[in-house]
Amino acid sequence: MSRRLAVPAALLLLASAPPAAAADPTNGRALAERHCTRCHVVGDVNPHGGIGSTPSLQWIKKLPDWRERFQTFYVRRPHLAFIKVEGLAPLTKLAPYATPITIAPGDAEDIFAFVEALPVPKGNSDITPIEGK
Ligand code: HEC
Repeated sequence: MSRRLAVPAALLLLASAPPAAAADPTNGRALAERHCTRCHVVGDVNPHGGIGSTPSLQWIKKLPDWRERFQTFYVRRPHLAFIKVEGLAPLTKLAPYATPITIAPGDAEDIFAFVEALPVPKGNSDITPIEGK
């Protein structure tokens, strides 16, 4: 095969690859419940839980760049010290200082789909009133 044909052939292969699975908010909720409630308040899952000094997931949605923060949370502090994504090289050689969490590559998208549907709290409260409740 000539070099000229090699690239279009590769593109054709890519185009015929199965589409990526749609994000699953139900799995995202289960993952957030299992992994994030330890430190964060997560919507109505643990309204009185989490650690006081850690923002609730719905509170983070008040920030204009919350999407980017959620899409990259596993490489942001403090998570990169204790969250490992299967197949990605760890970002630090240091031992985790909190109970380690391992997530699969698609899990962050599922968590994002769940967070996207979380109502944003009004005023200064984390818990009440939550819009739409
Ligand atoms: C061991 C505690 C702990 C766990 C577990 C944890 N977080 Fe966090 N997270 C924090 C703390 C503390 C902050 C605040 C960091 C800061 O103020 O800079 C934070 C901040 C965030 C932010 C904002 C990041 C930024 O740079 O602004 C997002 C998004 C986030 N967490 C998502 C998650 C998700 C999703 C999970 C579960 C998969 C999770 N966190 C699990 C402690 C935790």
